[in-house]
Amino acid sequence: MSNVFYAPGEQRAAKVNDLFARIARRYDLLNDLQSFGLHRLWKRRVVQLANVKSGDKALDLCCGTGDISFALAKCGAETTGLDFSEKMLEVARARSQKSEVKNPPSAFRPLTSDFRLPSFQQGDAQQLPFPDNSFDAVTVGYGLRNLTNWERGVDEMVRVAKPGGRIVVLDFGKPPNALWRSIYFTHLKCSVPLIGLLFCGNSQAYAYILESLKHYPAQLAVAEKMRERKLANVRVINLLGGAMAINYGEK
Ligand SMILES: C[S@@+](CC[C@H](N)C(=O)[O-])C[C@H]1O[C@@H](n2cnc3c(N)ncnc32)[C@H](O)[C@@H]1O
Repeated sequence: MSNVFYAPGEQRAAKVNDLFARIARRYDLLNDLQSFGLHRLWKRRVVQLANVKSGDKALDLCCGTGDISFALAKCGAETTGLDFSEKMLEVARARSQKSEVKNPPSAFRPLTSDFRLPSFQQGDAQQLPFPDNSFDAVTVGYGLRNLTNWERGVDEMVRVAKPGGRIVVLDFGKPPNALWRSIYFTHLKCSVPLIGLLFCGNSQAYAYILESLKHYPAQLAVAEKMRERKLANVRVINLLGGAMAINYGEK
């Protein structure tokens, strides 16, 4: 049976927007529950690879509630978080106001005194409102898979990155090992929607993860696309045996 939040083609964006509007308030909690908190480590890895320093400009696409944007900003980058969901951006902006970000516990203290909160703006990752060669690093976490056209998303990341700029993509992956892939897909099919139902009252929103992953060619195709775009040092970093993956390249 197809998922109520997945539609191919032109209807895709409206369905995805509806999905994130519904789960925005519970998104951070559910992320922790379904990944056992591991998403925090993987996002930290993304930020390390983005390798920004004070004064750099960073763009975090499909920023959602802003985890990666805040972490880039803490490294001193002038950071823009972009998302098309106003509801997700509302949560990100509310987090900006919280002492959690302004006065973080020591482990999360800004690495630099130049710390400025990210600016959050609404926009479509497939049609970025920025000139060519604008950013030292462009990241996207769990976003590319949701786009109507993920390749267009990569093209836009490449376009707005400066020469030498780092492009980093984190998303669910497809494990190369068949046994592990089937265990992991069973987790996405059964436990993740159950967690969604229990803590968010919505199993379909979380069943969407597997549905969208089935239609997304994942880490190997993203690497291929990066090579096609002539990025340098293209790398795939498989996490948890490829259940998650980071794609990296330099313009
Ligand atoms: C799974 S969330 C990821 C949020 C955040 N990056 C994280 O890792 O926690 C995916 C986000 O992509 C956004 N999104 C989906 N399609 C988009 C598009 N075409 N343009 C901009 N944002 C989009 C959604 O609104 C949602 O906030």
